[in-house]
Amino acid sequence: MGQNSSHSAMHPLRVLLRFLPKVGAALTLVLTVASCTSLEVAAPPVDKLTLPKKANRTQLAEGRQILASHCVKCHGAPQVARHSVEDWNEDILPAMTKKAKLSNQEAVLLKNYVLTAHDALAAHPVGS
Ligand code: HEC
Repeated sequence: MGQNSSHSAMHPLRVLLRFLPKVGAALTLVLTVASCTSLEVAAPPVDKLTLPKKANRTQLAEGRQILASHCVKCHGAPQVARHSVEDWNEDILPAMTKKAKLSNQEAVLLKNYVLTAHDALAAHPVGS
């Protein structure tokens, strides 16, 4: 053990550089969890919703996936229950489908999720 090696191991900058990636990773995790939580509340996953038996859960989950990947880029997760069905149908969906550049098929899947989740949340709010 030379004096040299112990000096380099204890250098404050080296210590900082060693821990910086961990701090970054922790911060990323916190931010990811925080944003997931608000998405979970704003647009609950299909298995959190009380749905009619005939509901096509696979398609609804695809619609929610479109929301989760395309509708959170410019603003926070859109709150499904906060806007009326009329607003969704007449204003928000037509405008935001364009902004998000969704295909017709994606737009249909998204709309299906939003309107179904809206009804489900009105009848059975999540967490109550
Ligand atoms: C390219 C950026 C962009 C994308 C992508 C986007 N939005 Fe928006 N969104 C906006 C802006 C800007 C506003 C506020 C101004 C406005 O209403 O046009 C907004 C407003 C909203 C509002 C609030 C409307 C109101 O009247 O309070 C909702 C809800 C919304 N967006 C949902 C969505 C959904 C759902 C998607 C995915 C299909 C989406 N947004 C994708 C930019 C975007």
